[in-house]
Amino acid sequence: MDEGGIWNDLVSDPWVRHADVIDGHSAPFGAAAMDALEPMSDAAVIDLGCGVGGTTWQLGERVGPGGRVLGVDLSSPFIEGARARGTAEHVSFVVGDAATIELDPVDALFSRFGVMFFSDPSAAFTHLRTLVRAGGSLAFSCWQDPLANPWMTVPVMASVSVLGPPRLPSPGEPGPFSLAEPDAIRMALGDGGWSDVDVTGLSVEQPFPAGDARGCAEVMSRLNPVLAGGIRNAPERLPELLDAVTDALRGYERDGAVTLPAAAWIVRATNEG
Ligand SMILES: C[S@@+](CC[C@H](N)C(=O)[O-])C[C@H]1O[C@@H](n2cnc3c(N)ncnc32)[C@H](O)[C@@H]1O
Repeated sequence: MDEGGIWNDLVSDPWVRHADVIDGHSAPFGAAAMDALEPMSDAAVIDLGCGVGGTTWQLGERVGPGGRVLGVDLSSPFIEGARARGTAEHVSFVVGDAATIELDPVDALFSRFGVMFFSDPSAAFTHLRTLVRAGGSLAFSCWQDPLANPWMTVPVMASVSVLGPPRLPSPGEPGPFSLAEPDAIRMALGDGGWSDVDVTGLSVEQPFPAGDARGCAEVMSRLNPVLAGGIRNAPERLPELLDAVTDALRGYERDGAVTLPAAAWIVRATNEG
């Protein structure tokens, strides 16, 4: 399934339904990327691959009514969900492909985990530079490698006994880990003409905000495209999948909450013009 199919269809309903879970879990990474853009008061900002808009609304608060924020995403259901989460004249949303969309240049581009899905990252980051004024900046978070992210790999590994080995993206293909190597980040941004590239690691260990092992298994099995894709092909295996993922998460359960490590890169760059 292509990227549009994943986000517009496969996981669209659960991502809208569980937007608060996603925002809770991703909060430290989004906040760190926003902090990298300070000062933001009165700035014009685009939120790339904004999903259900949690960060777009947060950016709206940071820039204040004197600024403006536009959330861009491939997925119509996500954009509909994002619009329903607030009202403010300076916050708006559009369905579009960040790799090609034509917009007036803004002060800064932001993304929380929305820039790892380009089929040609060098071309996409070249285009993104046209969306920022000279002297403007870009800041985003992207996942470090799978071994540093058990919150994603533990459920996927557990699913193998039920659904068989998943088809995972090869290195260099679009997917959550396409920018997991700092060299890949520096190459894509360098090819795109970005300057002063800074890549800083951020690792956290926090409860996944969906309750105990069973609660997390239920939510993760619907949000994770690998698991959701497997169940779409074999819906009769859902009860078995939930049992397998629950068992795997039990080892990480403390006081009724599942705590697993997560690690991302916080990337900042400048468009020198
Ligand atoms: C992992 S989700 C992150 C969503 C959101 N930023 C968040 O943190 O909750 C990736 C998002 O990027 C969007 N996306 C992927 N490729 C895109 C593209 N070329 N242009 C715009 N959005 C894209 C997807 O539709 C999805 O909403």
